[in-house]
Amino acid sequence: MLDLIKSRKSVRKYSEKHISDEDLRKILEAGRLAPSWMNVQSWKFILVKSQENKDLLSKLSIGQAHVKNADALIVCVADENAWEEAKITHIKNPALNPALQSENGILIRTMEQLIYPISYMMLEAESLGISSCIIGALGNEITGIEQETYREVKSKLGLGEKQILSTIITLGYEAEKSETNKIRKEFDSVVSLEKIGNKF
Ligand SMILES: Cc1cc2nc3c(=O)[nH]c(=O)nc-3n(C[C@H](O)[C@H](O)[C@H](O)COP(=O)(O)O)c2cc1C
Repeated sequence: MLDLIKSRKSVRKYSEKHISDEDLRKILEAGRLAPSWMNVQSWKFILVKSQENKDLLSKLSIGQAHVKNADALIVCVADENAWEEAKITHIKNPALNPALQSENGILIRTMEQLIYPISYMMLEAESLGISSCIIGALGNEITGIEQETYREVKSKLGLGEKQILSTIITLGYEAEKSETNKIRKEFDSVVSLEKIGNKF
């Protein structure tokens, strides 16, 4: 797993080769099986393969070319309705039950849940030799940009009340193989033992 993580990189140029439905299904299955708070699974994943929808989503992503040039996209939706639907009425402590938290708390928790399936899907894709890029620069309730396009996207993709388009994952085969250049902070500047600053 660590080797896969080390070699993965965001890829923004894709070849013409198509991803099989079998592989797309495996990637989506990895997302479906991700863990979540109280197993609430507050997410929806929309697979997009049509050029029409890819173009619209590229517009939503302030014109990012790799959104329209990817072979497929996974639109990741944070579904705030899931907390109510789960009907976790027996847990009265808001620390344990995000449904009892403030509007802001619910929003943060719902967005937070998506990190896990997105990571799982990205890594499953990588293990299948399929490259990806996470797209967070887009119009939605949080960024407040591209609101007209966002309304169109919500209607076209069938998003309802309290369903927030959080992230898009672009998928495709890398056009030209390139080296992975991991630019990351040094181990000791992000990892500490017992207290920030103490080396592990
Ligand atoms: C939450 C999130 C949002 C991102 N949004 C974008 C984006 O809108 N467009 C893009 O090209 N890359 C985006 N990225 C990719 C990052 O730029 C990339 O992961 C980072 O530069 C590290 O490079 P690497 O993935 O190749 O290791 C995003 C990554 C994350 C985790």
